[in-house]
Amino acid sequence: MSTKVTPGLGEVPVMVRWPEGVLRRMGKDNQDREIMKHMVDGHFQKALTCALPDTFSLFCQDLPTRPLPGAGRVLVTGASGYIGGRLVPELLARGYPVRAMVRAFSPAYSKHWPNAEIAVADALETESLDRALEGIDTAYYLIHSLLLGPSSFLHADIQAAVNFGKAAEKQGLRRIIYLGGLGDTRSQSPHLKSRMQVAQELSRGRTPVTILRAAIIIGSGSASYEIIRHLVTRLPVLPIPHWAKNRCQPIAIRDVVKYLVGAMETPEATGGAFDIGGPEILTYEGLLRIFALVIRKRVWLFDAPFSHIGFYAYLASLLTPVPASITRALMEGLRDEVVASGDEIRRLIPFKPLTYQEAVIRALSREEQDKVYTRWSDAYPPAYDLALKLHEVQGKPGYTATRSVLSDKPARSLFGSVCCVGGRAGWFRANWMWWLRGAFDRLFFGVGTSRGRRCHSSLEVNDVVDFFRVEDIEPDRRLLLRAEMKLPGKAWLDFAIREEGEKERLSVTAHFFTSSWFGRLYWYAFLPFHHFIFQGLVDQIEKQS
Ligand SMILES: NC(=O)c1ccc[n+]([C@@H]2O[C@H](COP(=O)([O-])OP(=O)(O)OC[C@H]3O[C@@H](n4cnc5c(N)ncnc54)[C@H](OP(=O)(O)O)[C@@H]3O)[C@@H](O)[C@H]2O)c1
Repeated sequence: MSTKVTPGLGEVPVMVRWPEGVLRRMGKDNQDREIMKHMVDGHFQKALTCALPDTFSLFCQDLPTRPLPGAGRVLVTGASGYIGGRLVPELLARGYPVRAMVRAFSPAYSKHWPNAEIAVADALETESLDRALEGIDTAYYLIHSLLLGPSSFLHADIQAAVNFGKAAEKQGLRRIIYLGGLGDTRSQSPHLKSRMQVAQELSRGRTPVTILRAAIIIGSGSASYEIIRHLVTRLPVLPIPHWAKNRCQPIAIRDVVKYLVGAMETPEATGGAFDIGGPEILTYEGLLRIFALVIRKRVWLFDAPFSHIGFYAYLASLLTPVPASITRALMEGLRDEVVASGDEIRRLIPFKPLTYQEAVIRALSREEQDKVYTRWSDAYPPAYDLALKLHEVQGKPGYTATRSVLSDKPARSLFGSVCCVGGRAGWFRANWMWWLRGAFDRLFFGVGTSRGRRCHSSLEVNDVVDFFRVEDIEPDRRLLLRAEMKLPGKAWLDFAIREEGEKERLSVTAHFFTSSWFGRLYWYAFLPFHHFIFQGLVDQIEKQS
């Protein structure tokens, strides 16, 4: 394999050559070979759109450990999160009885994991925690409150760990497996420090804790990957602050999941602490450069004269779907070198982890094929009221505006078009207005529209659609979207299809509930635009059905 020296990065494999080596390593997986062959031939797009069988979605097929007989019932906390959501199907596929712990129930969980038990519990409420841990043998601890923001997440994380440690002891759990972050308690980053403190709190009790520590995780939908992807794809020029020259050891999401499952299936790992990482140690600048090489984009990186983390965090939050509080917490972590110490885990769970490039290609290919299962940006925005539903506020004083169109087309076809809103397809009419609203939202630390959609071909309850989230779906009849942007009230967008004689009436209703004068002002200020935006929206949906 030939290599090229890139300043600040060392030897980078030349794009058209390196996949040959990768091909050899991935000899067992024909689908991977197919992807890589296209890469070698320079057919990048084809490589990304290579059809992958469903089995591809399972990460642990080549794990050297075997399902543990008598492992008992397994609890996955943080099952609604990025890593938990990918761990649950792996454990189910290996035959373990799994209980997935979430804070808010969604029918999507029962659909995705029909064989899993769903427990609704909050680690900050001890009673619900006791119920969730009853009859459990092994628990994965994947709870993280980073979304609460810098002033609250530390306390919440530690309290949750204290409660969990006590509940585990009370319920007589045999093991806890915790995934934390690389770094140490002297870290300058409150986020990394908190990950260490959580490990300490969990370890205080009598339940043995296996601690896995990872640095930056690369996979479709991971926060770090989203930041890198958006920065590289959106900007032609990237300023590199001095802390971006620190080193880290990225690891692919599939390898993280393999270590998590492998740790449970390796009794020697009980009670141990292990650093997990990919095969390379790279600078953050290197991660950006390699990403640009993979997508064949020319990006000019230059040494920035200033390094204020708050500034870069805010800039990144405007350009990526990751909120400013999170980009800041993650960037503060970049001030430390996060490199694995020791490779004991590779002896216990021996497999060859993916390189950073391989992880990036897989992530890109999943996105291209619309097969992203969990995304960090699908998490609820901070301080969001998880329980409030439209039917619960209806009846209270509020505002509505409805626009509709009568159509000859069948309900199924109309509904199919309704379900295409947002993401890559946009909002059919006056897209720039939606974009502008999203940009304002982002400027004021809202979620903005850059979250897009996890899946572009279908929608499920709880899926994010730009600055909305799906609250309800009745096939061929209704799509109810709850607004998550910054608003002086609560808002919903309700698409409905009703029979009217021989025809179907497609309507969209904006619901807005507010108790403040500013809220009322906001509603009336936007009222003139409703006709233009919403009538245009239903007309276009009807046309495209
Ligand atoms: N993702 C990475 O890049 C990365 C890198 C290194 C290490 N890690 C570690 O991996 C672990 C999991 O990370 P992740 O990326 O999967 O996090 P995540 O996507 O933010 O998920 C966090 C989960 O914690 C749940 N949670 C928060 N507060 C809770 C509470 N009080 N009670 C019950 N559940 C609560 C959330 O539930 P809701 O959906 O209800 O909010 C969510 O399911 C963390 O320890 C993290 O430090 C992650």
